Amino acid sequence: MERLASKQEVRQAVAEARREGKRVALVPTMGALHEGHLSLVSAARDRADYVVVSVFVNPTQFGPEEDFEAYPRDIERDMDLLGAEGVDLVFAPTPEIMYASDAAVTVDPGPLGGVLEGAVRPGHFSGMCTVVTKLFSIALPDLAFFGEKDYQQLTIVRAMARDLDLPVKVIGCPTVRECDGLALSSRNVYLSSEERHAATVLYRSLRTAETLVLDGERDAAVVAGAMRDTVASEELAEIEYAAVVDAVTLEPITALSDRPARALVAARVGGTRLIDNIALEVG
Ligand code: PAF
Repeated sequence: MERLASKQEVRQAVAEARREGKRVALVPTMGALHEGHLSLVSAARDRADYVVVSVFVNPTQFGPEEDFEAYPRDIERDMDLLGAEGVDLVFAPTPEIMYASDAAVTVDPGPLGGVLEGAVRPGHFSGMCTVVTKLFSIALPDLAFFGEKDYQQLTIVRAMARDLDLPVKVIGCPTVRECDGLALSSRNVYLSSEERHAATVLYRSLRTAETLVLDGERDAAVVAGAMRDTVASEELAEIEYAAVVDAVTLEPITALSDRPARALVAARVGGTRLIDNIALEVG
């Protein structure tokens, strides 16, 4: 497995793989890898012949008060995990390599980027779209893999690929959870053991929503209210939002119907901000 920091070298390595007739997959990550990331790599391995993983903590998607400096980094451990998964190339650039000091052009995520996470984290999705577009144009993958854990991100990347005619197929992969339902996240390392226990409240709120819908509830406000109540029952958790939205447009819905819907929740547990989501299916 090769580790490269230069865009030019990545382009050359991928071009070589293409000359050999290989189908190229990209798994963009910010490192601090866990089983969720590895499930993306494994899905990429199944569907492509040459797998590139990027490891880059992207400064432009963090707000000034967010955890860019503190974000966990351990490239040696990440390399060991990726080596064991049969990855072909790891692209691990520095911010200086990724961004020219006078870089000024960014990608606007449009209205999908202004709701939910985007309303709480202004600029986040523009930073994310900009770096993902750059990664796509550096690695030129046929396929790119993203986790459903960051459902809004996945939805925006799909829309971006469609709207900007990016020649890449975006593939979403299921969220990987601990036995008690907590979604794997690199930020889970911030949780104390008490907070770790309390953090299951996000998944519990999503299961509450799912059960209500399976039992026949169709009023989205009732479902979202029940999610909020579940989070409020946990002393260490502070709700940011609980929403029931159209799974494609992310617009709020009033009534659940045959159209795919998604329940999303964000809460702070101690000092740690966590998000999670689940599909809501009628019938
Ligand atoms: O999901 C992430 O880890 C990041 O948002 C991504 C897609 C790697 C872009 O920096």
